[in-house]
Amino acid sequence: MLKSRMEKFYRVSVKLLFVAVMAGFISFSLTTTANAGGKKSKSAAKTGDMVMADSCTQCHSTGRITAKKGLTVKAWNTIIVNMQSMGATISIEDKSTLANYLAENYK
Ligand code: HEC
Repeated sequence: MLKSRMEKFYRVSVKLLFVAVMAGFISFSLTTTANAGGKKSKSAAKTGDMVMADSCTQCHSTGRITAKKGLTVKAWNTIIVNMQSMGATISIEDKSTLANYLAENYK
């Protein structure tokens, strides 16, 4: 009698322990995934149209830019450098993002 009660208690404890471990594991993986996601979106590079909105709309509309078609990445880079000399502020990485974006999307 006593022995079977002990056995039952033991089995229930094992189950509870298992559930606790799984819950811990799941919440751990959820937090790490959430953190990874947060980090990713923080360090993710801006897209071409984000760069354009940030760096290229102080003096003229984006229409002025996208009216140009069929330029190579190199040609866009030259234009961006011209715009910098007129006062546009854009980082080196945003510059290549934008040049690639414009060459790819405005053929
Ligand atoms: C400091 C103001 C300023 C900023 C910021 C600026 N531009 Fe300009 N942009 C100008 C001016 C002024 C002109 C007209 C110059 C001209 O017609 O020669 C112009 C004209 C242009 C043209 C047309 C050129 C042509 O040959 O018709 C393009 C394309 C262009 N800009 C792209 C950009 C891009 C891309 C950015 C962002 C990196 C940018 N601009 C940011 C001032 C600016």
